[in-house]
Order: sequence, then structure tokens, then C-alpha cells
Amino acid sequence: MLLTRSLSSSLSLLALATSAAAAGWEFIEVGQSGVIALEVIIVSPTLAIFFDRATNDPLMVDGHAAWGALWNLETSKASALNLVTDTFCASGAILSNGTMVSVGGNVPANPAAQDGRMGLRLFNPCADPTGANCTVFEDPATLHLNQTRWYPSTARIFDGSIIIVGGMHEETPFYNTDPVNSFEFFPSKDNNTPRPSPFLERSLPTNLFPRVLALPDGTLLMIANNQTIIYDIEKKTETILPDIPNGVRVTNPFDGTAALLPLSPPLYTPEVLVCGGSNSTQLMPSTLLSSQDPASDQCSRLTLTPEGIAKGWQVERLLEPRIMPEMILMPNGEVLIINGALTGYAAVASVGDPIGNSNADHPVFTPSIYTPNAPLGKRISNAGLPASTVERIYHSGVTLTPQGNILVAGSNPNNDVVNNTVHASQFTVQTLNPPFFSVARPSIVKAPTQLAFNSRFDLQVTIPNNLRASTIQVALMDLGFSSHAFHSSQRLVFMDAILSFDRKTLTVTSPPNNRVFPPGPGWVFVTIDDVTSEAAHVMVGNGLSPPVRDQGIPL
Ligand SMILES: *[C@@H]1O[C@H](CO)[C@@H](O)[C@H](O)[C@H]1NC(C)=O
Ligand SMILES: *[C@@H]1O[C@H](CO)[C@@H](O)[C@H](O)[C@H]1NC(C)=O
Ligand SMILES: *[C@@H]1O[C@H](CO)[C@@H](O)[C@H](O)[C@H]1NC(C)=O
Ligand SMILES: *[C@@H]1O[C@H](CO)[C@@H](O)[C@H](O)[C@H]1NC(C)=O
Ligand SMILES: *[C@@H]1O[C@H](CO)[C@@H](O)[C@H](O)[C@H]1NC(C)=O
Ligand SMILES: *[C@@H]1O[C@H](CO)[C@@H](O)[C@H](O)[C@H]1NC(C)=O
Repeated sequence: MLLTRSLSSSLSLLALATSAAAAGWEFIEVGQSGVIALEVIIVSPTLAIFFDRATNDPLMVDGHAAWGALWNLETSKASALNLVTDTFCASGAILSNGTMVSVGGNVPANPAAQDGRMGLRLFNPCADPTGANCTVFEDPATLHLNQTRWYPSTARIFDGSIIIVGGMHEETPFYNTDPVNSFEFFPSKDNNTPRPSPFLERSLPTNLFPRVLALPDGTLLMIANNQTIIYDIEKKTETILPDIPNGVRVTNPFDGTAALLPLSPPLYTPEVLVCGGSNSTQLMPSTLLSSQDPASDQCSRLTLTPEGIAKGWQVERLLEPRIMPEMILMPNGEVLIINGALTGYAAVASVGDPIGNSNADHPVFTPSIYTPNAPLGKRISNAGLPASTVERIYHSGVTLTPQGNILVAGSNPNNDVVNNTVHASQFTVQTLNPPFFSVARPSIVKAPTQLAFNSRFDLQVTIPNNLRASTIQVALMDLGFSSHAFHSSQRLVFMDAILSFDRKTLTVTSPPNNRVFPPGPGWVFVTIDDVTSEAAHVMVGNGLSPPVRDQGIPL
């Protein structure tokens, strides 16, 4: 597939070589999702999975409405997955052996589904590019979480397991009034006993879908409400970091978003960026909040070293306020800020004046780009970014694809599928194609299927003649799991690379160890002079089932 696609992109070389500067970002409507793409994850070079709630989605399976679908990136068609339990407001990640795990869920309204709150759903690596025989495995009687969890978060950690963080026991209308203030793991640790968390307790009631990020030393950064900690999984300690400044809260139902900025050798110094959310008080009953309350335009950035933490958060401003934005790391190290609304909150029909059923109003249609290395005040721009025609507010999903463009889908601030209303359910799937989609691109002709840590490997590449190769970036990425304005496990680790004199071989050095890049599947993108290739799919580390041992060398 990589070969065919790069061939077709080189056919357009002639047409575009003369007008490369004129080509820009472009939204393209590519198809219909069949189910609301409330959660989105890429699971193979050609397939994404969409999960919704078990309700009245148009895509049918086994005589009832489906609530999960495989999305074929080549044909832009959805095919139903026959799920057992309700995946509504779940999370997920991919383990060190390549199996995708969907975690948590809800008590279904649709009788075809079973209670998904303890859900553990496994999608094993599936080689069929069409997904025809790919299935999700569920056995709720024997394979389940310890706690019932709606609105939990997940992250892949250094031993290739996933941590499951917080959530609530059952459906509540707005705030977390029935919290699960603990962490657990899959596969389980501590004899399947959840670990209580004072941080989750303190950050109530706006702490749903905590933003959890794996740091390069193996600890976790956790952000909930306006609070931040570092959680040491091995020592079981929580270290309190400074609050997000100015009373801005960033977790559901006041969703801002957070991303670990790209990590670079030799130090892999971690920096977190947190954008959007709301500075409203969390002490107000939801009926006294308004869909017209302005969201926050604040971005806050912190360097996670002792010196960086002492220096505190650096504040900058988005071009507009955003509730429910999402941030997508691009292979060139820039961050796409997309989706969300100017005013209101997440969740459905719980503020005093919902618009339709939406607690949020005034969708933001134009994405922005954040350039981490630009000077403060000059990092955020929407120059050249088009406006979308499809709103993406509550229950939408977005991800970078192996092809290098952005898949944008979903939005449903309603309890079921509702059409022909303000803030209706959205089935239109779009791609947002970067400028390099209309020029000749580098391609990875041959890559190893498995990467050991702290080792050298070769990528065979072709590089269009018009590119001088004055900048060469090789990114190892986890494309993450999109749910509720957060991209769990999303990660970009740059790798040092040397291009051979004949421009056909890149000699690349893999990340030093399994803490810098938690072991499991990854995607390698090559960017030459800001023109990005399609990705090669690699298994990073030993590929064994979790927990896996430490690999590579310490930082
Ligand atoms: C809503 O619109 C979608 C997409 O056009 C359609 O497939 C579906 O049947 C409609 N559902 C309802 C409940 O009206
Ligand atoms: C899918 O499974 C069917 C029935 O087992 C088999 O006939 C078919 O070849 C399989 N298709 C692929 C692409 O593996
Ligand atoms: C959860 O863990 C506790 C403590 O180990 C145990 O007693 C309980 O049976 C577990 N519950 C489930 C549903 O696994
Ligand atoms: C975080 O929120 C708490 C509770 O509302 C508030 O007391 C505290 O001052 C906030 N922190 C900052 C830095 O605004
Ligand atoms: C809250 O955020 C809004 C929007 O950014 C801003 O106009 C307002 O001044 C902020 N209020 C406080 C108390 O910081
Ligand atoms: C990966 O590990 C999980 C957890 O042990 C297991 O359930 C799953 O079957 C494994 N997948 C593969 C492909 O071995």
C-alpha cells in the first residue's frame, strides 16, 4: 500500500512542482461514519475504529443498530463491528503486543448491548487491510475491570500495560458526583486491587477524563480540574505540581486538552501544553451555567524538570476561546489545534439554556497551528488554515492517519442520534489534508517491522529531486486514542537520522528505552524540508504481552 500510494502522489509531481507554494491545507468530505465517531483510534495502516454509544445509529449489525465500526482509510467506508457491551464514553490504548484495548463504558439504553462500565474489549492485530475478518473480542463474564468506570482515561505505560484512571461509577448529568477515585491496570497489578488516588479526590467534581501523559522517566503527568501531579507508578507516590494558572479547569465537563510536546534527543526534556477549557467556578449547579459562557483562550506550558517546575507555567493565548479543542501532534513537530466551541461546556442538556441539547455553542470552524519552537507570543497561527463546514463539538473525534492527514469525524451533543436540529448528530467524515498532500512526497520504501530500543536501523527512502533535504526529521509516533477532547497515549519522539550521500538510506537511532517510548506499535514518518511521507508501521520493543521488562539503556 505504501508503494502504490507514493506512486500516485509522484504522478502529481509535474502539476504541482510549479505551484507548490500555492497549495495549502484543505478539508475534504470523504464519507459517512455509520455510527457517531465519539472515540477514534487507528488500528492498522488502513483501518480506524469508531466507537459510539449503543443507541439508534444508522449502521446495522445482527438486526440492530451498531455502536462500533471499522473505518477503511482507503475506501472511506464504514463497516459495523458486532460489539457486546456499550462503549459510550470509554477510552482505550494499544498494548505492547499490539492488541488494542477499549476500556469502560456505560449502562446501555439499547437492549442489544450489555453494561459496558467494566468493559475490556480486545482488538488483536489484524493483517487484513479491508478488516473483513477483524473482530473485537469481549467476554464480560471473565474479562473486565475491577471497578465500574464511565469517563475514565487510559495511557500505555513503560511496561506495555495500560493504566486506567478515574471516571464515575454510573451516568450522572454533568459533574462527577459518583467518582471512582482510583487507578487500575490492564493486565491487572497488585492482585487486581485498585490504587486509591488523593489527587482524584481533590480534583472533584470536574475531573472526568483526566489528562494522563507518560513522561520519559516512566512516571505519569496527570491533569484534572486545575490541578496537576506526577504519579510514580513504581513508588506509588503522587507529587503535587503547580495548578494551571488563573482558575482555568481543563477536564470534563470543562474540557480543555493537553499534549506532551514532541520529545527530542539527546535529553528528551518533557514539556506539556494545556489549552482551552473554562475558568468558570465548579461550585455552581449546572443549571446556573450558560451555553453562552465564554470558554478559556488560555494555553499553559510547563517544562517537567525540577528547574521548569520551579519556573512555573508559561501562559499564552489561543486565537479564540475553545471548550473541547483537541491537539494533534504533526510529524514535523507542530501541533494542530482543532474542534470545539467558543462558549459553554461539554455534556448534554444540563446547563440552564442548552442550544438544542448542546451545553456548548458557537463551534470553532478554523484550526490553528502551534509551533513549539517559535518565540512566546508567536507560536499560534491560523494563516492558511481553512474553515470547516462541519461542526465538531461534544462527542467528536480526530486523529492523524498513517497517510499523514487528519481524520475528523463525529459530534453529537444529544443523547441519541438527532438530525435536522441545531447542533445535530454529525456523520460526515472529513480529512484535513496538509499542504504536502499536493506535492511530491518522500516515501519510506523499506523499513524494519520491529525496532529494538537504543539501536541503529536503516530506512530505505525515495526523496523527490526538488527537495534539497536541508532539514530531515524522523518521527516515531503513537497516534493515540481520541475521546472527549483528549488524545490518550499520543506521542512523538524524534530520532536522530543521517541521510546517505545517494539520498536513498536514512540511518536512524531508535529511542534509548521503553520509558521514552512506551513499548508497542509505532508509526515512523520521514519529513524532508517540511514535506512528510506516509508512515511505516513498526513494533517498538520486544512485542511481547505486558508487562514487559525494561529495555534499552537508562536516560
Ligand atoms: C440521521 O442521518 C443519518 C445520515 O444522513 C441517517 O443515516 C440516519 O438514518 C438519520 N437518523 C435519524 C434517527 O434520523
Ligand atoms: C475471511 O474469512 C472467510 C471465512 O473464514 C474466508 O473465506 C476469507 O478468505 C477471509 N478473508 C480474508 C481477507 O482473510
Ligand atoms: C476488586 O478488587 C478487590 C480487592 O482486591 C476485590 O476484593 C474485588 O473482588 C474485586 N472486584 C472485582 C469485580 O474484580
Ligand atoms: C484552582 O481551583 C481551586 C478551587 O476552585 C482554587 O481554590 C485555586 O485557587 C485554583 N488555582 C489557581 C492557580 O487558580
Ligand atoms: C475568564 O476567562 C475569560 C475568557 O478568557 C476572560 O475574559 C475572563 O477575564 C476570565 N476571568 C477570570 C476571573 O480570570
Ligand atoms: C496481548 O496481551 C493481552 C494481555 O495479556 C492479551 O489479552 C492479548 O491476547 C495479547 N495479544 C496478543 C496478540 O498476543
